[in-house]
Order: sequence, then C-alpha cells, then structure tokens
Amino acid sequence: MLDALAARNEDLDRKYGVRLKLRIGVNTGEVIWSGPTGKAEPTVGRTVSIAQRLESTAAPNTVHAGDSTYRAARRKFEFKAAPLITITGADDLERAYELVGAKRGVGAGSERLEVPVAGGGASLQVGAERAYLLEEQRKVVTVLFADLAEPLADRLQTEVLQRVLGSYFSAVSAEIARFGGTIDKYVGDAVMAVFGAPVSHEDDAARAIHAALGIHAALRKESDAIERRFGVRLVAHIGVNTGEVVAGLLPGEVAAYTVTGDTVNTAQRIESVTPREQTYVSATTYAVARHAFVYETVPELTLKGKSAPVAAFRVIAPERRASPRAGATLIGRDAELARLYAAFRAAAAGTGTAVHVHGEAGVGKTRLVTDFLSGLPTAQRVRARANSYEEATPYALVAELVRRMFGISPADTEDAARAALAGRLGRTTADGATALLLEILGYAVVSQLDPEGKRRLVIALLRQVIRDRGRERPLVVVIEDLHWTDPTSAEVLTEVAGVVPAERCLLLSTARDAAAARWPADAIALEALDSRAAEQLIDRVAAAPIDPATRALILERTAGNPFFIEEVVRSLKDGAVASVPATVQDLLEARLDALESSPRRVAHAGAVIGRTFWERVVARVTPDLDVAPALGTLTAERLVNETARTPEHTYSFAHALVQEVAYRTQLMTNRRRTHVTVGDAYASLFEERVDEFVDTLAFHYRRGDDDPKARTWLLRAGHRAQQLYANAEAVDYFSAAIERSAEDPAARADAQEALGDVAGVLGRYDEALDRYAAAATAV
Ligand SMILES: Nc1ncnc2c1ncn2[C@@H]1O[C@H](COP(=O)(O)OP(=O)(O)OP(=O)(O)O)[C@@H](O)[C@H]1O
Ligand SMILES: [Mg+2]
Repeated sequence: MLDALAARNEDLDRKYGVRLKLRIGVNTGEVIWSGPTGKAEPTVGRTVSIAQRLESTAAPNTVHAGDSTYRAARRKFEFKAAPLITITGADDLERAYELVGAKRGVGAGSERLEVPVAGGGASLQVGAERAYLLEEQRKVVTVLFADLAEPLADRLQTEVLQRVLGSYFSAVSAEIARFGGTIDKYVGDAVMAVFGAPVSHEDDAARAIHAALGIHAALRKESDAIERRFGVRLVAHIGVNTGEVVAGLLPGEVAAYTVTGDTVNTAQRIESVTPREQTYVSATTYAVARHAFVYETVPELTLKGKSAPVAAFRVIAPERRASPRAGATLIGRDAELARLYAAFRAAAAGTGTAVHVHGEAGVGKTRLVTDFLSGLPTAQRVRARANSYEEATPYALVAELVRRMFGISPADTEDAARAALAGRLGRTTADGATALLLEILGYAVVSQLDPEGKRRLVIALLRQVIRDRGRERPLVVVIEDLHWTDPTSAEVLTEVAGVVPAERCLLLSTARDAAAARWPADAIALEALDSRAAEQLIDRVAAAPIDPATRALILERTAGNPFFIEEVVRSLKDGAVASVPATVQDLLEARLDALESSPRRVAHAGAVIGRTFWERVVARVTPDLDVAPALGTLTAERLVNETARTPEHTYSFAHALVQEVAYRTQLMTNRRRTHVTVGDAYASLFEERVDEFVDTLAFHYRRGDDDPKARTWLLRAGHRAQQLYANAEAVDYFSAAIERSAEDPAARADAQEALGDVAGVLGRYDEALDRYAAAATAV
C-alpha cells in the first residue's frame, strides 16, 4: 500500500500540491464475524482494537504490527521494536513492532497470513427511486462517531462478548435510525454515522446530537440487565462534527455510499478524547445546533493531526425553552402584532379564535409569537412544536402538547408523569385516561382501548383541558411548525380545534405553508423584511459597523430574510462576506434534496448558468429532461421565480443563497463540465448574435475544463473589452487566456501582444515592450 501510495503521490503533488500519508496497523488473532450471509455486521474483538491502536500510534507512512503478526511474519519481514501500546480501558501493555521491509530472498506474500480487517460495508438505506441522490456531491453533513469507552474484548469470553456487543450495536443503530442518520461504517467497536447524506435535513446537526443523547440513554438502560448477568456495563463516548464532505458511491466493484473529507477525521479525533458517557461537539456543530441544546464549553482539545487546538462543547441536554433563538429587538411587525393582540382580546372576552402564521423558513414566525407572548404577562400559555424527525411518529405532536399542558419533561419517570397527570386531570378523569396519556407519552403502559377509542378519548381530554383552563384565565395554545405534524396528531388537533370558538382560548399556530392548519383560522402571511427594516437588522446584529457596500451585498444575498441576515452577518470575517454559512447551507440543501430528480437537476444546471437563467439554455444543458414542469415545481417550491416571458422565458433564483448552495453542492469536475455545456448552449442558440454573448461565453468557458474553447473566447472577450476601452477587463481576460494557452503558442503570443497594446495605451511603455518581446518568443 505504501509503495502504491508513494507512486500516486508524485502525481498528486504535481497536479494538486498534496501528498497522502498513511498509517497502517496490522494485527493477527481471533475475531467475531457474523459470516458472509449476515448483513453488514462489523468484525470486532480485541484483535481489532489492537490493530486500531497500532494504527493510531504509528508515524505517517509506517506500518506497525502487533505481537502475533510479528511472530507469524518475522521470517519473511524485518521488524524493529516500537513503543508498547495500551488499549483504552485495559491495563496491560501490548508489544508493537515497526515494519522495516521484506527480507531479501523471500517472496513477500508467498505464505498466507490471516489478518483481520476492521470495518464493514456501508449500509444503503435509500430506495431505488431516490437513486439520483447517490450522485457524487459536496454536502454539509454531520458525522457522529460513537465508541465504547472501555473495550470489552479482553474482559469477556468470545460468546458473551458477541451477545453484549450485539446489544451495543443494536442500541446504537436504533438511535441513529430514529433520527434519520445512516450508519457509514464500523471500525472495531466504533460506529460512524452520517446525518445529511444522501438526504439532507435542515436540522441534521441537531438530529445527530439527539441520537448521541439517545445512545447514552439506551446504553444505560441496556447495561442494567447486562451488568446483572455479565458484570460489565456498556459505556460509550461520542464525538460529533459538522462540515463539508464529498458524498457519493465509492468507485470500485462494491457499491458503497460513503462520505470523505477532513470533517470525518475530526469527528473521530474528537470522539477519541471525549470522556466516558459524554458527547463532545465541534465548534461548527455547535454553531449550527446552538439553539437546540444546552452546552458547556470545555477546554480546547489537542487532537492528533491538527496543528492548532480545537474548540469543543459538551452537550448537556436538549433545550426545552420554547424560543431560545432571540437576537436583536424585534424590528417592524407592528401590524401583525396588533392582529394577534386583537385576537387575544376577543378570546379573553369569550370568542375563541384560531390564528395561523405562515411564511418561509427563517422569516420570523417563531420570533413574532415569542414577542407576542411576552406582551401577555397574565395569560396562561402552552407552547409546543412539531419536530422534523417525528413526522412519521404517531401522536408525537400530541404527546409534546400533553407534556407542555401538564408540565411533564421527557426525562421524568413514569411515577412523576402519572402524578402530574393525576394532579391536573382530577375529577374530569375518564376511566383509562391516565393510562392512555402515559402510553402516548411513551411510557411502558398499554391502554385497553382500540385505536379509534384512543383517538376519541384523546380528543375529549384535550378539549376538556382547554375548557377547564379557559374558565380559570384566558388561555393561549401555541403549536409551532405544523408542517412537521405526524398524521395522527393532525387529525386529533383538527378535532380539538373545533372547540376553540366556544372557549376563552387563542389557538395560535405557525408553519411554512398556509395549508398546514387544517382548521378554520385567520391567516397571517409573514413576508420578508423590507429593505429599511433589513438594514436596521443588519446593523443591530453586526458586531462592528458595516460599510455600505457590504451592507448592500448582504441585502442582496438575503432578500430580507431575518434568519439569513443573522447568519450571513455572523459569518462575516474581517468585514468581508464569507461563503454560505453552514446553517443556511443545511437548510437550503434540505430543500433541494426534497426535490425529485428533474427539478433538482434543473436547479443544478440553472445554478451553473447564473442567478438568472433562460429556459431555452437550461433545456440545452439538460436535453434528456422535460424542463417546463421541472421549472414549475421549482417555482411552486419558491426556489426560483419566473421573471419574464419575452423575449426569453426567464427564471431567477429566489435567493442568491439558493443559487450558491445549488452550485456548491456539485462536484468541481461536474461543474466544470457543465460550464462548457452552458457555453456550447449559448454558442449554438445564439449563433447569429454571438458577439452579444462574448462575455457570457468567456465567463463559462473560463470556468469549464476545455482549454481550447477557454482561450478562444477569453481572447475574443479581451479584444472586445479593449475596443470598448475597458482596459482592466481586457487585462484580466488576456491574462486568463495566457494561463489557458500552455499548448497553443499562437494564442499565447496573441494574448501577450494584446496585453502589450493595453499597456501602451495606459502609458506603461516598458511593460508594453516586455510583452511584445514575450509574444515574439512565444511563437
Ligand atoms: N422582525 C424581526 N426583528 C428582529 N429579528 C428577527 C425578526 N424576525 C426574525 N428575527 C430573527 O431571525 C431569526 C429567524 O427567525 P425565526 O426563528 O422566528 O424564523 P421562523 O420563521 O420561525 O423560521 P422556521 O420556519 O425555520 O421556524 C431569529 O433569530 C429571530 O430572532
Ligand atoms: Mg420557527
């Protein structure tokens, strides 16, 4: 491997200026393996842990071997002693050897060595109809590494170990699946999971952290039984990191979907230094999921392979406050607040009302509700929200509402929950009501009712609570993010809402779409901030004064969406607008991934063309697709807007950020190919008027991978700029043309000469002479 890598490195260094370094650990011994018929089961055991440890202590480009491998192979290979190793949790030391080379005169590999290999196949959890998602892409994902804090391999008999590790792996995979993650691979006792590939969700980082907390909780539960029988406990430590990766099918015979990149390595390194039963997250994960959890800052971590210390945060618990995301004081929204207060006054006077606030992600729905509630000091309030990862969990939203109504926390024991329910239900309790509610809350209680009976009883109970509470004092029930309601809860809530008009209750809901509230409700459509309000928000959020040009750029990129404004301003580095913030990218990737194949590909093609694109050009770039319906979908999803019908059918991305994300997620090689196709499309569609499109063609071919076309059009664009006395542009075009003319001396000479002309025009005669000389030698 090292030889093959050394050869490859020459090439990589020449092309990209990088070299790959590899550490290898090899160990021989007994492992547990479920056999070829099992599903992707990991190979585990002490042998694997030692191999892993050997790998991690080896210097780059060396091979370290364990004692048994050394003994099996020392006749054929030369070794020298390496520092002893320990495996986490075990006290004894293991010998290690560094491989020096093959012994002369003995053919390496002439004798078979059975060496265990860590890692199983990647699991693929997407149906064939979503196969397009497996195309290679750059994505922001969250990677979770979970490992046993104390390996059990050396403390248990093989068969017992298999049983115990079986419960460990199934608990881990269940939690990962519950929150929509995918297991990427197993490495010894460690499990690597990815959230956000192949399918992105806007809250992938939060999902990963929920899974981490779930894993710790599940292991605690499992361990009680295991400890009684085998005298050991399963304790994990977990590292989580978020960042850009390349995701796709590995090239090769085995179709394995995986993600690669530094993001993955960092997650693993964080895991390796995380204390037992804890979850540490990186600064990027923290930035994306900071509102969803309570954290504690830990001292910076020194990680192997990282020159600078790395910031990390310890996850304590999910954030239970209704609205932790509150930044600058509320800007604007006077009319909307007035409508909410009017509705509340009516409710307080006995005419209950339902109000539904809808608008795109980040427009300020939650914020509006929060500010409204804080202006109602005396009202009773109950505030619940649907979670994206519980869309398919029956009664998930109703359970959350019940918890909020009765003051039950998810961490409460069954007894505590029972007491809270009994205290409030009191005299109105129907038979079995407590049991049913406990069942819905997820406690191990089974109510005797059939499904329809359950549904009816829940509806009756919730109606009763609203009635009783409203009689005491006006009641505001807030239900957020209805777009993620599970179907059962949607039915129940629709029935419950029927009681509102007759009670002293304001039922206030929010969602991204107007149709999410299935009951009669006054709708408030929340729009983006106008440019004055947006500017005010920019200034309030900014740590330092922002110059007008940057402010204008932020306005243009965010189109007045407060969430985008906050995130873009937050990501300002030294006053300059940096790349798309990870939070925003997560959100937008999720929206793009939710699309079917053709609209998604059209969005990708459009993104390469530009912020604004013509239907005819897209159709040329994606000749196998029916473009019109795809554009219809993108318009309906508010990702693009139709901006003109004549002379060209024109579309624009709704946000510059949407275009950027659709552009960035494509692999560079694909993008470069598409840029050439776009250039070709313009060239053939507008053959007659190609002069008008010289700049456009130069723009695309410059970003494409076709050198001859690039130099041809860069030269043409340069000459045109020169004629228009646009000298700076001309210099830029001609310089770029030189870069793309390595194999074409005539083109190089042409560009040099033209640069000489421009320099002459600008009065830089020495430079002009140099350029002419370079042109003369080029040919
Ligand atoms: N009018 C406003 N003035 C100041 N800040 C605002 C305003 N509207 C929203 N924000 C801020 O913008 C961010 C996004 O707002 P919010 O969370 O309310 O969006 P949302 O519509 O609920 O989005 P989602 O659909 O994702 O839940 C928050 O940090 C919020 O404090
Ligand atoms: Mg919200």
